[in-house]
Amino acid sequence: MARITTTTLRDKKAKNEKITMLTSYDYSTAVMVDQAGIDMILVGDSLGNVVLGYENTLAVTMEDMIHHTKAVTRATSNCLVVGDMPFLSYHVSTQEAVRNAGRFLKEAGAQAIKLEGGTERVDTVKAILDAQIPVMGHIGLTPQSVNQLGGFKVQGKDLDTARKMIEDARAMDEAGVFALVLECVPTLLAKRITEEVSCPTIGIGAGHYCDGQVLVINDMLGMFSGHIPKFVKKFANLQPLIIAALKDYKKEVETGTFPGEEHGFTIKDDVLERLY
Ligand code: KIV
Repeated sequence: MARITTTTLRDKKAKNEKITMLTSYDYSTAVMVDQAGIDMILVGDSLGNVVLGYENTLAVTMEDMIHHTKAVTRATSNCLVVGDMPFLSYHVSTQEAVRNAGRFLKEAGAQAIKLEGGTERVDTVKAILDAQIPVMGHIGLTPQSVNQLGGFKVQGKDLDTARKMIEDARAMDEAGVFALVLECVPTLLAKRITEEVSCPTIGIGAGHYCDGQVLVINDMLGMFSGHIPKFVKKFANLQPLIIAALKDYKKEVETGTFPGEEHGFTIKDDVLERLY
């Protein structure tokens, strides 16, 4: 199977076929996501919450992102891998933004990057695209703006903010993003945006009219004990299964049941005899 490209995604939108995306942050998980036939992996800066244990994504660094993106790209041959630009990696200057975006492709082997923001990021997006780096946009609830937004809330519920979101979506689409994440957006506003823009929209908490869907993998597999947003469906509940397995392991080690003979390695008798 050939790797999914940005063209595949546009074709899917044209054919009304849904696009699938999940986050991953490590090799073993990315192998499973790739094998499951998911279209895209986002190495999200949600890494900060679900892997590094921070309260939000602001502390995540370029080095964190490159390290984890490398692990994910080593695992994939089918998925399109998108590296998420962390807070302050694209805000200071366009030059710095292009250099940091380039690191995801050059050092980490990703095929594209994602960044948050609307009209205020158009120049940055264009500069990154000029360097031949595909860009995915992200509007609505943009977690890197949590302090400005006053918390993790649904966006675009009143006329002014809904209009601003449509303006942001148009601006990103015209700038040339290959897809646009809509996070925590009312269903019918997401529908309106999806119909209006030429690029595929990828929803998270944005209802069922988007061209595709993304979720944080730890949330949808039930492997995260922090706050789980209302829009998440748990497709598995692995945390209790894992804790039960860990308790079994503890019990078996403590009682001498594990390791058994079958888990050991042999040594020839004559070698053993000559030891003493
Ligand atoms: O970092 C992340 O996982 C994201 C998704 C929530 C879209 O940006």
